[in-house]
Amino acid sequence: MNSESTNLTWGGVDCQELAEEFGTPLYVYDTSIIKARCRELRETFLERWPGSKVRYAGKAFLTRSMSKLIQSEGLGLDVVSLGELYTALSAGFPPEEIEMNGNAKSREEISLAVRSGVGRIIVDHPDELKTIEFFAREFNRVQKIFIRVAPGVDAHTHAYISTGQTGSKFGFPLEISEGSMLRYAVEYAARSEYLDLRGIHFHVGSQLFDTQDYLKSLEKIIELIKDLKEQLNFTTHELNLGGGFGAVINPSVPHVPSEKFTEPMMKLLRASCKDFGLEVPAAIIEPGRWIISEAGITIYRVENIKELPKVTYIAVDGGMADNPRYALYQAEYEAVAVKAPNAPAYDRDGGTKVSVVGKCCESGDILIENARLPWLEAGDLIALYNSGAYTFSMSSTYNKLQRPAVVFVEDGEARLVVERQSLEDLLRGDRG
Ligand code: LLP
Repeated sequence: MNSESTNLTWGGVDCQELAEEFGTPLYVYDTSIIKARCRELRETFLERWPGSKVRYAGKAFLTRSMSKLIQSEGLGLDVVSLGELYTALSAGFPPEEIEMNGNAKSREEISLAVRSGVGRIIVDHPDELKTIEFFAREFNRVQKIFIRVAPGVDAHTHAYISTGQTGSKFGFPLEISEGSMLRYAVEYAARSEYLDLRGIHFHVGSQLFDTQDYLKSLEKIIELIKDLKEQLNFTTHELNLGGGFGAVINPSVPHVPSEKFTEPMMKLLRASCKDFGLEVPAAIIEPGRWIISEAGITIYRVENIKELPKVTYIAVDGGMADNPRYALYQAEYEAVAVKAPNAPAYDRDGGTKVSVVGKCCESGDILIENARLPWLEAGDLIALYNSGAYTFSMSSTYNKLQRPAVVFVEDGEARLVVERQSLEDLLRGDRG
């Protein structure tokens, strides 16, 4: 790297050089940030609360290299599909440290989960019990399971990523009256030699900053744990508190410590269990975004700039195909110019709005609606900060765009971990 350069660096690597070597758009992850997040979880959660577990929600970003990194950092993994499970297994992830979630699991998914010895399956529908039992009998094992419940709390986040509200498609309603889904499931599991119901799972929503939503949900869950004990003599040995911890959008803003969420929850859990004379269940959390979002940037090349009377469009060589999050949730991002990351925003014609847009054939293909960027020209590079979560994993090949490459960087070294799709890859399976 040229030492005179003022270019943006990520993980000690010049982003201009990354773009030249690997092309754009490009997902770049600083693995030292991922490791720091994992370390924080070990120190403030795993070591502090005996018996607790962290299972990284792979849906936020999963590749074989990520799976290996999570394993080497001593965390478990949460998967939700055959593809995620296969990715983890093919990277050698220990199956007993994997849990499988999902509200509509297929027989094939359950079969592979049981056969491969997945540690926990989170049951989301009463019918799953029979399927899990069938495969557990077939593969001669006792499958540990959880039941997911919807705590009935509306989380303060975008409606599309709130999951714990009443009427959610996820989980069982909380009632345990005669004839309820939950009672049926608990009693079914208790009778089965092939099912070992370890506890309860809930997930409030995603991109949460407000601990109140967690605590309100947890209060209801503790009531449930008490009722399950009193009415069905069921002991909740483990409690999965889900994920959802929020990630900030700019690296100059300090990240939200995970303790902000875990400390009040763990204190409430322990105090309430003590009050009710209940065994304190071992706690599990499933953060995805919080571990990966802030480690990732996406580098784009500006294709052209269109100055209109009310808006200036900076059109880049990617967009909603590699990051659909603005289109879906009006997610906020901030970008900088790679050649001058600290340059102040250029005030176009007295404050005209500047939007960074993609190359897909849709007006909703926006990356940043109100960007603050310096003077840019076609060919310049920009980097979208904190775009590590739910971008690669939600990317598509819309407009037959090729999925970008993924690079891991650390200490000035870059490593290609997923290749950019080739045109041949795009046609793979298309028999013509
Ligand atoms: N556990 C369960 C059961 C979940 O449903 C989710 C996320 C997580 C854990 C991890 O949540 P996180 O810690 O990453 O917030 N595509 C959306 C996010 C959807 C999240 C779905 N479930 C986005 O781009 O914002």
